[in-house]
Amino acid sequence: TPTPVTVTVTGAAGQISYALLFRLAAGGVYGKDTPVRLRLLEVPSQTGAAEGVAMELEDCAFPTLASIDITDDPAVAFDGAGAAVLVGARPRGPGMERADLLTANGAIFRDQGRAINDHAAEDVRVLVVGNPANTNAYIAHRHAPDVPAERFTALMRLDHNRALSQLAARLDAPVGELDRVVVWGNHSATQFPDVSYLTRGGAPVTDGLDRQWLEDDFIPRVARRGSEIIEVRGSSSAASAAGASIVHMRDWVRGTPEGSWATVALPSRGEYGTVPGVVTGLPCRSDGGEWQVVEGLEIDDFQRARIDASVAELVSERDAVHGLGLVD
Ligand code: NAI
Repeated sequence: TPTPVTVTVTGAAGQISYALLFRLAAGGVYGKDTPVRLRLLEVPSQTGAAEGVAMELEDCAFPTLASIDITDDPAVAFDGAGAAVLVGARPRGPGMERADLLTANGAIFRDQGRAINDHAAEDVRVLVVGNPANTNAYIAHRHAPDVPAERFTALMRLDHNRALSQLAARLDAPVGELDRVVVWGNHSATQFPDVSYLTRGGAPVTDGLDRQWLEDDFIPRVARRGSEIIEVRGSSSAASAAGASIVHMRDWVRGTPEGSWATVALPSRGEYGTVPGVVTGLPCRSDGGEWQVVEGLEIDDFQRARIDASVAELVSERDAVHGLGLVD
């Protein structure tokens, strides 16, 4: 029998985890032949609720679920972890300023970055979901100097999927025929969902995507989809965020389909004029090893301005966490 993989999930009692953990336990990332050992990290007041989720996981009798451990100690949670999905974060409370939010989350992701550095498996793959996801991933990565930078990623697959579904509706195309969108920059309102390289059934799409529709409808719709979900559903995206996290990890571990792209936020090496170090959305492929940034794409002036604007926001978030002493 294959060796089980240890997967750590933080924020295990929250609403995203309630959708994520069941798919993870059912083999959604590693497949039907690789058992997973789940390590659930929660704050002390929520370990009881995580216990309840664990009971439900047991009741599913998933053949791929080897064990479940619950802890409030990051050193225990990340011990031997082959994958870590960092969902738990501090939401913005009433009267909380941006700096307070960055400070609260900065401390969480600093401590978890250190624990990953000291305790996780050598080839750990980290996905940060908790917001501000890109900057939280930056903080964790900067506190894990022994882990290669490209093993710290932040979730922008949800933005990518939102873009695909809007395009499918616009083009009246089955969503599965569309590929090669990319969402550059930050998982925030400044993000740039880009259709410049879009393909349908492998062929470039040229019709139906005029500049005015892109600027007035598509880009703001995708960028504000999270707020729209909150308005309509009454709480923030959960199952869609969990689904995007599963496919992000699955594609990383098992490879992107032939010819296909994913949007992955990872520490920039300066690709496409982005600022080195900041965790930005980039077009990526995986062969089951490391994420590889797609090379050789042409960038026009319109794209340049949009990419630069979102990366500038990432730089200001980076500067803020340095200013608060959260990263040296
Ligand atoms: P939630 O509030 O339902 O759950 C968060 C859980 O994290 C809570 O149970 C809380 O106790 C736990 N937690 C807080 N600090 C922790 C710590 N230090 N260690 C371990 N657990 C901790 O929130 P939900 O809806 O599950 O969302 C989680 C995060 O994901 C939020 O920050 C949200 O903004 C973000 N998000 C990101 C998306 C993306 O595309 N990147 C999409 C949707 C949500």
